[in-house]
Amino acid sequence: MDIVVLAGGLSTERDVSFKTGSMVTKALRENGHRVIMLDVFMGYSDKEEDLSGVFDRAEEISVKASDISEEAPDLKMIKESRKDQSDCFFGPNVIRICQMADITFMALHGENGEDGKVQAAFDLFGIKYTGSDHLSSAIAMNKGIAKQLFRANGIPTPSGIVMTKKKRNDDVASLGLRLPVVVKPCCGGSSIGVTIVRDYEQFKAALDEAFRWEDELIIEEFVQGREFSCGVIEGKALPVIEIAPIEGFYDYKNKYKAGSAVETCPADIPEKAAVQMRSYAEAAAKALGLDTYSRSDFLISTGGEIYCLEVNTLPGMTPTSLLPQEAAVIGMDFNQLCEKIIEISMKRYQ
Ligand SMILES: Nc1ncnc2c1ncn2[C@@H]1O[C@H](COP(=O)(O)OP(=O)(O)O)[C@@H](O)[C@H]1O
Ligand SMILES: [Mg+2]
Repeated sequence: MDIVVLAGGLSTERDVSFKTGSMVTKALRENGHRVIMLDVFMGYSDKEEDLSGVFDRAEEISVKASDISEEAPDLKMIKESRKDQSDCFFGPNVIRICQMADITFMALHGENGEDGKVQAAFDLFGIKYTGSDHLSSAIAMNKGIAKQLFRANGIPTPSGIVMTKKKRNDDVASLGLRLPVVVKPCCGGSSIGVTIVRDYEQFKAALDEAFRWEDELIIEEFVQGREFSCGVIEGKALPVIEIAPIEGFYDYKNKYKAGSAVETCPADIPEKAAVQMRSYAEAAAKALGLDTYSRSDFLISTGGEIYCLEVNTLPGMTPTSLLPQEAAVIGMDFNQLCEKIIEISMKRYQ
């Protein structure tokens, strides 16, 4: 097949997306496909191009990805570096090249990728893509809306509220939540802008930090305990993985700096807890309408209660990312997993 792997963009997870993109590109090439990796924002070439036979030049045209730095990328600089300074999110030739592909593999993470907007545009442009459709992506991305659906479907989630910039309230005591609380941007990812607030004085700074990223936040009770994740492919849960950061919580650094967290799959928890968590992961995917693949984040409190934090619709996809590690446990290697995602995503179009 001729496949575009779409990565980059202008989200805070731009660099992580390149990591996913380059690994998926490598795997799909090894599987025999002709693959072009494109930066959705920067596009390919700023000249009028004859794009016929573009997949014959797949490697030459592909972006070359750099390593992920420990800091979130400088998006303003990236935005200013594109020759086309219009407000169009799609870079030059992106739509045309994706229209020429048999399918586009979504290697995007975060805003304008995980939130369903690119998917909605692609539906209208007649472009096939991997992963969830625009509506379920949008719903899953908003942690406030997802929380309501978890509650309505009997999936336990920490108590929490949504706060907008317009109705900012610095008085944490009036919110009806017990300290410590976690403050996080409603639609962000990779733990960017997330702060754990342990005393009243820290709350204002945590709001300042999170509002730097978004106008809508989620503030929820902190769950002391262990952290897990569980992938779901076509409605069936994979084995549970435990993530134990060596220092602090699972923040941006601990997510992407090699060796900063111990990851164990299958997780060393009682079978009953694993079965329960897997059924919550399946229920969460179903509640949000995620029918291809997804990965849900969980906590187990010191008292043994399971809580679902969120569902990621386009989870990280490098061989050492969480979902691929879980797939490996059931004997599906990274190349097979990438192929599987193409295969199940194509079903939507048959
Ligand atoms: N209620 C909570 N209690 C304890 N830790 C939390 C809570 N919410 C978030 N965290 C920590 O912050 C990290 C990021 O939160 P999460 O909701 O998964 O958002 P994202 O991964 O999209 O940034 C989690 O992996 C966890 O380490
Ligand atoms: Mg998470």
